[in-house]
Amino acid sequence: MARIAMVGTGYVGLVTGVVFAELGHEVVGVDLLRERVARINRGEPPIHEDGLAELMARNVPERFRATTDIAEAMDGAAFVFIAVGTPSREDGSIDLSHVERASADIAPNLRPGQIVVVKSTVVPGTTRDVVRPILKRGAPDPGSVRLAMVPEFLREGIAVRDAMSPGRIVIGAEDRSVASAVAALFTGTDAPVLVTDPTTAEAIKYASNTLLALKISYANEIGALCEDLGIDVYRVMEGVGMDPRMSRYFLNAGLGFGGSCLPKDTRALRAVFADRGLEPLLLDALHAVNDRQALRAVSSLDGLLGGLRGKRVAVMGVAFKANTDDVRETRAVPVIMGLLQRGAEVVVHDPIASNNLREMYRMDVAFATTAREALEGSDAVVLQTDWPEYSELDASAFEKMRGRVVYDGRRALSATQVTFLRGRGFTVFLHGAGVQ
Ligand code: UGA
Repeated sequence: MARIAMVGTGYVGLVTGVVFAELGHEVVGVDLLRERVARINRGEPPIHEDGLAELMARNVPERFRATTDIAEAMDGAAFVFIAVGTPSREDGSIDLSHVERASADIAPNLRPGQIVVVKSTVVPGTTRDVVRPILKRGAPDPGSVRLAMVPEFLREGIAVRDAMSPGRIVIGAEDRSVASAVAALFTGTDAPVLVTDPTTAEAIKYASNTLLALKISYANEIGALCEDLGIDVYRVMEGVGMDPRMSRYFLNAGLGFGGSCLPKDTRALRAVFADRGLEPLLLDALHAVNDRQALRAVSSLDGLLGGLRGKRVAVMGVAFKANTDDVRETRAVPVIMGLLQRGAEVVVHDPIASNNLREMYRMDVAFATTAREALEGSDAVVLQTDWPEYSELDASAFEKMRGRVVYDGRRALSATQVTFLRGRGFTVFLHGAGVQ
Protein backbone atom coordinates (compact mmCIF):
# COMPACT_ATOMS: atom_id res chain seq x y z
CA MET A 1 0.00 0.00 0.00
CA ALA A 2 1.24 3.46 -0.86
CA ARG A 3 1.31 6.86 0.77
CA ILE A 4 -0.32 9.52 -1.37
CA ALA A 5 -0.47 13.30 -1.09
CA MET A 6 -3.56 14.66 -2.86
CA VAL A 7 -3.20 18.34 -3.65
CA GLY A 8 -6.72 19.76 -3.91
CA THR A 9 -9.67 18.38 -1.97
CA GLY A 10 -12.39 19.62 -4.30
CA TYR A 11 -14.70 17.25 -6.05
CA VAL A 12 -12.13 15.11 -7.85
CA GLY A 13 -9.42 15.18 -5.17
CA LEU A 14 -11.76 14.28 -2.36
CA VAL A 15 -13.55 11.42 -4.12
CA THR A 16 -10.34 10.00 -5.62
CA GLY A 17 -8.50 10.34 -2.31
CA VAL A 18 -11.21 8.73 -0.21
CA VAL A 19 -11.54 5.86 -2.69
CA PHE A 20 -7.75 5.31 -2.62
CA ALA A 21 -8.05 5.16 1.19
CA GLU A 22 -10.82 2.59 0.83
CA LEU A 23 -8.50 0.54 -1.40
CA GLY A 24 -6.03 0.54 1.50
CA HIS A 25 -3.69 3.42 0.70
CA GLU A 26 -2.79 6.15 3.16
CA VAL A 27 -3.89 9.49 1.75
CA VAL A 28 -3.32 13.05 2.94
CA GLY A 29 -5.37 15.73 1.21
CA VAL A 30 -3.91 19.23 0.90
CA ASP A 31 -6.04 22.33 0.60
CA LEU A 32 -5.60 26.05 1.10
CA LEU A 33 -9.08 26.37 2.59
CA ARG A 34 -8.77 25.90 6.37
CA GLU A 35 -12.49 25.51 6.85
CA ARG A 36 -12.64 22.69 4.29
CA VAL A 37 -9.67 20.89 5.86
CA ALA A 38 -11.27 21.08 9.31
CA ARG A 39 -14.55 19.78 7.94
CA ILE A 40 -12.90 16.82 6.23
CA ASN A 41 -10.99 15.95 9.39
CA ARG A 42 -14.26 15.90 11.30
CA GLY A 43 -15.42 13.31 8.77
CA GLU A 44 -18.03 15.63 7.23
CA PRO A 45 -18.28 15.53 3.42
CA PRO A 46 -18.17 19.12 2.10
CA ILE A 47 -20.12 18.08 -1.02
CA HIS A 48 -23.17 15.93 -1.63
CA GLU A 49 -22.09 12.67 -3.22
CA ASP A 50 -23.71 9.28 -2.81
CA GLY A 51 -21.67 6.94 -0.62
CA LEU A 52 -19.01 9.53 0.26
CA ALA A 53 -20.15 10.02 3.86
CA GLU A 54 -19.94 6.25 4.51
CA LEU A 55 -16.47 5.99 2.98
CA MET A 56 -15.28 8.99 4.99
CA ALA A 57 -16.70 7.50 8.18
CA ARG A 58 -14.73 4.34 7.49
CA ASN A 59 -11.42 5.98 6.51
CA VAL A 60 -11.07 9.32 8.33
CA PRO A 61 -8.65 9.80 10.07
CA GLU A 62 -6.75 6.47 9.80
CA ARG A 63 -6.30 6.34 6.05
CA PHE A 64 -7.62 9.72 4.96
CA ARG A 65 -7.01 13.11 6.51
CA ALA A 66 -6.43 16.65 5.29
CA THR A 67 -3.93 19.41 6.00
CA THR A 68 -3.01 22.88 4.77
CA ASP A 69 0.69 22.00 4.97
CA ILE A 70 1.92 20.57 1.67
CA ALA A 71 5.43 19.79 2.95
CA GLU A 72 4.00 17.65 5.72
CA ALA A 73 1.64 15.86 3.33
CA MET A 74 4.45 15.10 0.88
CA ASP A 75 6.90 13.90 3.51
CA GLY A 76 7.24 10.16 2.93
CA ALA A 77 4.63 10.06 0.15
CA ALA A 78 5.37 7.90 -2.90
CA PHE A 79 2.84 9.77 -5.06
CA VAL A 80 1.76 13.38 -5.23
CA PHE A 81 -1.51 13.95 -7.07
CA ILE A 82 -2.49 17.30 -8.55
CA ALA A 83 -6.28 17.47 -8.34
CA VAL A 84 -7.03 21.18 -8.37
CA GLY A 85 -9.70 22.95 -10.40
CA THR A 86 -9.21 24.06 -14.01
CA PRO A 87 -12.05 26.55 -14.57
CA SER A 88 -12.89 28.36 -17.79
CA ARG A 89 -11.52 31.82 -18.49
CA GLU A 90 -13.86 34.48 -19.84
CA ASP A 91 -13.13 33.41 -23.45
CA GLY A 92 -13.77 29.72 -22.74
CA SER A 93 -10.10 28.72 -22.71
CA ILE A 94 -8.72 26.82 -19.73
CA ASP A 95 -7.44 28.63 -16.63
CA LEU A 96 -4.34 26.73 -15.49
CA SER A 97 -3.41 29.05 -12.63
CA HIS A 98 -4.30 26.53 -9.89
CA VAL A 99 -2.31 23.78 -11.63
CA GLU A 100 0.68 26.12 -11.96
CA ARG A 101 0.45 27.14 -8.33
CA ALA A 102 0.14 23.53 -7.13
CA SER A 103 3.16 22.55 -9.26
CA ALA A 104 5.19 25.44 -7.84
CA ASP A 105 4.20 24.46 -4.28
CA ILE A 106 5.09 20.82 -4.89
CA ALA A 107 8.48 21.46 -6.55
CA PRO A 108 10.65 22.45 -3.54
CA ASN A 109 9.30 19.50 -1.50
CA LEU A 110 9.90 16.93 -4.22
CA ARG A 111 12.23 14.07 -3.28
CA PRO A 112 13.88 11.65 -5.73
CA GLY A 113 11.60 8.69 -6.39
CA GLN A 114 8.36 10.54 -5.77
CA ILE A 115 5.94 10.43 -8.71
CA VAL A 116 3.77 13.45 -9.50
CA VAL A 117 0.43 12.53 -11.06
CA VAL A 118 -1.69 15.16 -12.82
CA LYS A 119 -5.35 14.30 -12.20
CA SER A 120 -6.87 17.67 -13.03
CA THR A 121 -8.44 17.96 -16.48
CA VAL A 122 -5.83 19.85 -18.50
CA VAL A 123 -5.60 20.60 -22.21
CA PRO A 124 -3.23 18.39 -24.25
CA GLY A 125 0.40 19.32 -23.72
CA THR A 126 -0.03 20.81 -20.22
CA THR A 127 1.78 18.06 -18.27
CA ARG A 128 4.76 18.18 -20.63
CA ASP A 129 4.91 21.91 -21.34
CA VAL A 130 3.59 23.52 -18.15
CA VAL A 131 3.82 21.16 -15.16
CA ARG A 132 7.15 19.52 -16.03
CA PRO A 133 9.10 22.81 -16.50
CA ILE A 134 7.72 24.24 -13.22
CA LEU A 135 8.70 21.09 -11.30
CA LYS A 136 12.16 21.01 -12.89
CA ARG A 137 12.75 24.65 -12.08
CA GLY A 138 11.87 24.29 -8.41
CA ALA A 139 12.89 20.73 -7.51
CA PRO A 140 16.04 20.22 -5.41
CA ASP A 141 17.03 17.42 -7.84
CA PRO A 142 15.58 18.38 -11.28
CA GLY A 143 16.96 15.25 -12.95
CA SER A 144 14.77 12.97 -10.85
CA VAL A 145 11.36 14.44 -11.69
CA ARG A 146 8.93 11.61 -12.56
CA LEU A 147 5.53 12.47 -13.99
CA ALA A 148 2.29 10.85 -15.05
CA MET A 149 -1.11 12.07 -16.20
CA VAL A 150 -4.18 10.08 -15.19
CA PRO A 151 -7.45 11.62 -16.40
CA GLU A 152 -10.55 11.11 -14.29
CA PHE A 153 -13.83 9.86 -15.71
CA LEU A 154 -16.04 10.19 -12.62
CA ARG A 155 -19.64 11.23 -13.03
CA GLU A 156 -21.05 13.45 -10.31
CA GLY A 157 -23.75 11.77 -8.28
CA ILE A 158 -22.27 8.31 -8.79
CA ALA A 159 -18.62 9.30 -8.48
CA VAL A 160 -17.84 6.91 -5.63
CA ARG A 161 -19.24 3.97 -7.57
CA ASP A 162 -17.34 5.11 -10.69
CA ALA A 163 -14.10 5.40 -8.70
CA MET A 164 -14.49 2.00 -7.03
CA SER A 165 -15.16 0.26 -10.33
CA PRO A 166 -13.94 2.46 -13.16
CA GLY A 167 -14.77 1.51 -16.75
CA ARG A 168 -11.17 2.10 -17.71
CA ILE A 169 -7.97 3.62 -16.39
CA VAL A 170 -5.80 5.68 -18.69
CA ILE A 171 -2.23 6.25 -17.57
CA GLY A 172 -0.13 8.74 -19.48
CA ALA A 173 3.46 8.25 -18.42
CA GLU A 174 6.83 9.13 -19.81
CA ASP A 175 8.33 5.73 -19.06
CA ARG A 176 7.28 2.18 -18.28
CA SER A 177 8.41 2.11 -14.66
CA VAL A 178 6.29 5.16 -13.80
CA ALA A 179 3.31 3.61 -15.61
CA SER A 180 3.51 0.35 -13.70
CA ALA A 181 4.00 2.08 -10.34
CA VAL A 182 0.86 4.16 -10.99
CA ALA A 183 -1.08 1.12 -12.28
CA ALA A 184 -0.34 -0.70 -9.01
CA LEU A 185 -2.31 1.98 -7.13
CA PHE A 186 -5.49 0.76 -8.76
CA THR A 187 -5.09 -2.87 -7.73
CA GLY A 188 -8.47 -3.97 -6.45
CA THR A 189 -10.52 -2.16 -9.09
CA ASP A 190 -9.97 -4.67 -11.95
CA ALA A 191 -10.49 -2.06 -14.64
CA PRO A 192 -8.77 -2.34 -18.02
CA VAL A 193 -5.68 -0.12 -18.19
CA LEU A 194 -4.44 1.80 -21.22
CA VAL A 195 -0.91 3.18 -21.04
CA THR A 196 -0.07 6.16 -23.24
CA ASP A 197 2.13 9.25 -23.11
CA PRO A 198 0.80 12.19 -21.02
CA THR A 199 -0.38 14.31 -23.97
CA THR A 200 -2.40 11.41 -25.38
CA ALA A 201 -3.96 10.80 -21.95
CA GLU A 202 -4.95 14.47 -21.74
CA ALA A 203 -6.47 14.31 -25.23
CA ILE A 204 -8.43 11.14 -24.34
CA LYS A 205 -10.23 13.02 -21.58
CA TYR A 206 -11.29 15.88 -23.86
CA ALA A 207 -12.15 13.62 -26.75
CA SER A 208 -14.34 11.53 -24.41
CA ASN A 209 -16.27 14.44 -22.92
CA THR A 210 -16.70 16.03 -26.32
CA LEU A 211 -18.08 12.83 -27.83
CA LEU A 212 -20.56 12.58 -24.93
CA ALA A 213 -21.61 16.20 -25.51
CA LEU A 214 -21.86 15.55 -29.26
CA LYS A 215 -24.10 12.55 -28.68
CA ILE A 216 -26.42 14.62 -26.50
CA SER A 217 -26.56 17.50 -28.99
CA TYR A 218 -27.10 15.03 -31.82
CA ALA A 219 -30.05 13.47 -29.98
CA ASN A 220 -31.38 16.97 -29.32
CA GLU A 221 -31.11 17.93 -32.97
CA ILE A 222 -33.01 14.80 -33.99
CA GLY A 223 -35.42 15.51 -31.11
CA ALA A 224 -36.42 18.83 -32.68
CA LEU A 225 -37.25 17.00 -35.88
CA CYS A 226 -39.19 14.33 -33.97
CA GLU A 227 -41.34 16.97 -32.29
CA ASP A 228 -42.18 18.31 -35.71
CA LEU A 229 -42.96 14.84 -37.08
CA GLY A 230 -45.05 13.91 -34.06
CA ILE A 231 -42.82 11.00 -33.12
CA ASP A 232 -40.70 10.33 -30.03
CA VAL A 233 -36.92 10.76 -30.09
CA TYR A 234 -36.59 8.28 -27.18
CA ARG A 235 -38.09 5.57 -29.34
CA VAL A 236 -35.84 6.59 -32.23
CA MET A 237 -32.73 6.47 -30.06
CA GLU A 238 -33.81 3.13 -28.64
CA GLY A 239 -33.53 1.79 -32.17
CA VAL A 240 -30.31 3.64 -32.93
CA GLY A 241 -28.71 2.52 -29.67
CA MET A 242 -29.43 -1.14 -30.33
CA ASP A 243 -26.61 -1.10 -32.84
CA PRO A 244 -23.56 -1.96 -30.73
CA ARG A 245 -21.50 0.47 -32.80
CA MET A 246 -23.59 3.33 -31.43
CA SER A 247 -24.73 2.44 -27.87
CA ARG A 248 -27.80 3.92 -26.23
CA TYR A 249 -25.84 5.93 -23.64
CA PHE A 250 -25.87 9.73 -23.80
CA LEU A 251 -28.62 9.83 -26.39
CA ASN A 252 -31.20 11.13 -23.91
CA ALA A 253 -32.58 14.25 -25.52
CA GLY A 254 -33.72 16.99 -23.18
CA LEU A 255 -32.91 20.50 -22.08
CA GLY A 256 -29.24 20.00 -22.92
CA PHE A 257 -26.06 19.28 -21.01
CA GLY A 258 -24.82 21.28 -18.05
CA GLY A 259 -22.51 20.72 -15.10
CA SER A 260 -18.91 21.58 -14.47
CA CYS A 261 -17.33 19.29 -17.07
CA LEU A 262 -18.99 18.91 -20.46
CA PRO A 263 -19.59 22.66 -21.01
CA LYS A 264 -16.16 23.66 -19.68
CA ASP A 265 -14.17 20.95 -21.45
CA THR A 266 -15.85 21.36 -24.83
CA ARG A 267 -15.22 25.10 -24.64
CA ALA A 268 -11.58 24.58 -23.66
CA LEU A 269 -11.08 22.18 -26.56
CA ARG A 270 -12.64 24.71 -28.89
CA ALA A 271 -10.11 27.28 -27.63
CA VAL A 272 -7.26 24.82 -28.28
CA PHE A 273 -8.44 24.46 -31.90
CA ALA A 274 -8.64 28.22 -32.30
CA ASP A 275 -5.18 28.66 -30.77
CA ARG A 276 -3.75 26.37 -33.40
CA GLY A 277 -5.57 28.06 -36.25
CA LEU A 278 -7.93 25.09 -36.69
CA GLU A 279 -11.63 25.55 -37.29
CA PRO A 280 -13.78 23.72 -34.67
CA LEU A 281 -16.89 23.36 -36.84
CA LEU A 282 -18.44 20.44 -34.94
CA LEU A 283 -17.65 21.93 -31.54
CA ASP A 284 -19.33 25.18 -32.52
CA ALA A 285 -22.37 23.29 -33.72
CA LEU A 286 -22.75 21.19 -30.58
CA HIS A 287 -22.71 24.35 -28.46
CA ALA A 288 -25.23 26.07 -30.68
CA VAL A 289 -27.59 23.09 -30.36
CA ASN A 290 -27.10 22.99 -26.59
CA ASP A 291 -27.76 26.71 -26.16
CA ARG A 292 -30.90 26.47 -28.25
CA GLN A 293 -32.49 23.69 -26.18
CA ALA A 294 -33.55 25.92 -23.28
CA LEU A 295 -34.84 28.58 -25.65
CA ARG A 296 -36.87 26.01 -27.55
CA ALA A 297 -38.51 24.93 -24.30
CA VAL A 298 -39.39 28.52 -23.40
CA SER A 299 -40.88 29.16 -26.87
CA SER A 300 -42.92 25.97 -26.72
CA LEU A 301 -44.28 26.94 -23.32
CA ASP A 302 -45.08 30.40 -24.61
CA GLY A 303 -47.09 28.80 -27.39
CA LEU A 304 -48.85 26.30 -25.13
CA LEU A 305 -49.86 28.98 -22.63
CA GLY A 306 -50.79 31.59 -25.24
CA GLY A 307 -48.15 33.99 -23.87
CA LEU A 308 -46.09 33.90 -20.71
CA ARG A 309 -46.73 37.39 -19.33
CA GLY A 310 -48.20 37.15 -15.84
CA LYS A 311 -48.20 33.33 -15.91
CA ARG A 312 -46.81 31.43 -12.97
CA VAL A 313 -44.39 28.67 -14.02
CA ALA A 314 -42.91 26.09 -11.65
CA VAL A 315 -39.38 24.96 -12.56
CA MET A 316 -38.84 21.58 -10.95
CA GLY A 317 -35.22 20.72 -10.36
CA VAL A 318 -32.35 23.19 -10.57
CA ALA A 319 -29.43 20.76 -10.15
CA PHE A 320 -27.66 20.13 -13.47
CA LYS A 321 -28.71 16.50 -13.15
CA ALA A 322 -30.28 14.23 -10.53
CA ASN A 323 -28.42 13.07 -7.39
CA THR A 324 -26.24 16.14 -7.05
CA ASP A 325 -26.61 19.59 -5.48
CA ASP A 326 -24.32 21.06 -8.16
CA VAL A 327 -25.88 23.93 -10.11
CA ARG A 328 -22.86 24.93 -12.19
CA GLU A 329 -23.98 25.61 -15.77
CA THR A 330 -27.35 24.07 -14.97
CA ARG A 331 -29.86 24.41 -17.80
CA ALA A 332 -32.29 25.68 -15.17
CA VAL A 333 -30.67 29.12 -15.49
CA PRO A 334 -31.34 29.76 -19.21
CA VAL A 335 -34.82 28.27 -18.78
CA ILE A 336 -35.60 30.58 -15.84
CA MET A 337 -34.03 33.60 -17.54
CA GLY A 338 -36.05 32.95 -20.69
CA LEU A 339 -39.26 32.65 -18.70
CA LEU A 340 -38.56 35.84 -16.72
CA GLN A 341 -37.68 37.76 -19.89
CA ARG A 342 -41.07 36.91 -21.33
CA GLY A 343 -42.81 38.20 -18.23
CA ALA A 344 -43.54 34.95 -16.38
CA GLU A 345 -43.43 34.62 -12.61
CA VAL A 346 -41.17 31.70 -11.64
CA VAL A 347 -41.21 29.43 -8.63
CA VAL A 348 -38.46 26.83 -8.33
CA HIS A 349 -38.07 23.62 -6.41
CA ASP A 350 -35.19 21.22 -5.88
CA PRO A 351 -34.78 18.54 -3.20
CA ILE A 352 -31.23 19.70 -2.33
CA ALA A 353 -29.84 22.30 -4.76
CA SER A 354 -32.02 25.39 -4.16
CA ASN A 355 -29.56 27.03 -1.76
CA ASN A 356 -26.71 26.67 -4.22
CA LEU A 357 -28.82 28.31 -6.93
CA ARG A 358 -29.74 31.15 -4.59
CA GLU A 359 -26.09 31.74 -3.70
CA MET A 360 -24.63 31.43 -7.18
CA TYR A 361 -27.15 33.28 -9.33
CA ARG A 362 -29.20 36.36 -8.54
CA MET A 363 -32.59 35.78 -10.06
CA ASP A 364 -36.00 37.10 -9.21
CA VAL A 365 -37.67 33.78 -8.40
CA ALA A 366 -39.60 32.29 -5.49
CA PHE A 367 -38.32 29.12 -3.79
CA ALA A 368 -40.73 26.38 -2.78
CA THR A 369 -39.76 23.92 -0.08
CA THR A 370 -41.77 21.04 -1.48
CA ALA A 371 -42.70 19.94 -4.99
CA ARG A 372 -46.39 20.22 -4.09
CA GLU A 373 -45.96 23.79 -2.94
CA ALA A 374 -44.30 24.69 -6.26
CA LEU A 375 -47.13 23.17 -8.27
CA GLU A 376 -49.87 24.83 -6.27
CA GLY A 377 -51.36 27.72 -8.24
CA SER A 378 -48.95 27.38 -11.19
CA ASP A 379 -50.14 27.69 -14.78
CA ALA A 380 -47.43 25.40 -16.07
CA VAL A 381 -44.61 23.23 -14.79
CA VAL A 382 -41.23 22.48 -16.39
CA LEU A 383 -39.41 19.36 -15.23
CA GLN A 384 -35.79 20.41 -15.51
CA THR A 385 -34.02 17.71 -13.47
CA ASP A 386 -34.98 14.04 -13.52
CA TRP A 387 -35.14 13.67 -9.76
CA PRO A 388 -36.72 10.30 -8.85
CA GLU A 389 -39.09 12.05 -6.43
CA TYR A 390 -40.81 13.78 -9.35
CA SER A 391 -41.66 10.47 -10.97
CA GLU A 392 -43.36 9.52 -7.72
CA LEU A 393 -45.54 12.63 -7.41
CA ASP A 394 -49.14 11.60 -7.28
CA ALA A 395 -51.91 13.12 -9.30
CA SER A 396 -53.29 15.19 -6.46
CA ALA A 397 -50.15 17.34 -6.54
CA PHE A 398 -50.78 18.27 -10.19
CA GLU A 399 -54.49 18.82 -9.52
CA LYS A 400 -53.46 21.78 -7.34
CA MET A 401 -52.17 23.64 -10.39
CA ARG A 402 -54.09 26.61 -11.76
CA GLY A 403 -53.32 25.63 -15.35
CA ARG A 404 -52.94 22.33 -17.12
CA VAL A 405 -49.55 22.46 -18.91
CA VAL A 406 -46.77 20.03 -18.00
CA TYR A 407 -43.46 20.31 -19.86
CA ASP A 408 -41.14 17.37 -19.29
CA GLY A 409 -37.66 18.51 -20.30
CA ARG A 410 -35.92 15.36 -19.00
CA ARG A 411 -38.40 12.49 -19.23
CA ALA A 412 -38.65 12.75 -15.48
CA LEU A 413 -42.26 11.60 -15.38
CA SER A 414 -43.19 7.93 -15.47
CA ALA A 415 -45.30 6.54 -18.29
CA THR A 416 -48.11 6.04 -15.77
CA GLN A 417 -48.02 9.69 -14.74
CA VAL A 418 -48.07 10.83 -18.37
CA THR A 419 -51.06 8.63 -19.20
CA PHE A 420 -52.88 9.70 -16.07
CA LEU A 421 -52.25 13.42 -16.61
CA ARG A 422 -53.35 13.22 -20.24
CA GLY A 423 -56.49 11.43 -19.11
CA ARG A 424 -57.23 14.32 -16.76
CA GLY A 425 -57.02 16.87 -19.53
CA PHE A 426 -53.44 18.03 -18.97
CA THR A 427 -51.33 19.02 -21.96
CA VAL A 428 -48.13 17.02 -21.45
CA PHE A 429 -45.27 18.13 -23.68
CA LEU A 430 -42.28 15.80 -23.88
CA HIS A 431 -39.07 17.43 -25.07
CA GLY A 432 -38.14 15.69 -28.29
CA ALA A 433 -41.62 14.29 -28.87
CA GLY A 434 -44.04 17.16 -28.42
CA VAL A 435 -47.61 16.85 -27.18
CA GLN A 436 -48.33 13.66 -29.20
C1 UGA B 1 -19.07 14.04 -17.18
C2 UGA B 1 -18.66 12.69 -17.80
O1 UGA B 1 -19.81 11.87 -17.95
C3 UGA B 1 -17.65 11.97 -16.90
O2 UGA B 1 -17.23 10.78 -17.52
C4 UGA B 1 -16.44 12.89 -16.67
O3 UGA B 1 -15.50 12.32 -15.80
C5 UGA B 1 -16.92 14.17 -16.05
O4 UGA B 1 -17.88 14.81 -16.93
C6 UGA B 1 -15.73 15.07 -15.85
O5 UGA B 1 -15.16 15.54 -16.84
O6 UGA B 1 -15.31 15.25 -14.70
P1 UGA B 1 -20.80 14.79 -15.23
O7 UGA B 1 -20.56 16.20 -15.68
O8 UGA B 1 -20.76 14.48 -13.79
O9 UGA B 1 -19.75 13.78 -15.95
O10 UGA B 1 -22.27 14.40 -15.71
P2 UGA B 1 -22.95 13.58 -16.89
O11 UGA B 1 -23.67 12.44 -16.33
O12 UGA B 1 -21.99 13.35 -18.00
O13 UGA B 1 -24.04 14.66 -17.39
C7 UGA B 1 -23.67 15.91 -17.97
C8 UGA B 1 -24.89 16.63 -18.50
O14 UGA B 1 -25.42 15.99 -19.67
C9 UGA B 1 -26.05 16.72 -17.52
O15 UGA B 1 -26.61 18.00 -17.56
C10 UGA B 1 -27.03 15.68 -18.01
O16 UGA B 1 -28.35 15.98 -17.68
C11 UGA B 1 -26.81 15.78 -19.53
N1 UGA B 1 -27.16 14.53 -20.26
C12 UGA B 1 -26.50 13.37 -20.01
C13 UGA B 1 -28.16 14.58 -21.21
O17 UGA B 1 -28.77 15.64 -21.46
N2 UGA B 1 -28.44 13.44 -21.91
C14 UGA B 1 -27.80 12.27 -21.69
O18 UGA B 1 -28.11 11.26 -22.37
C15 UGA B 1 -26.81 12.22 -20.71
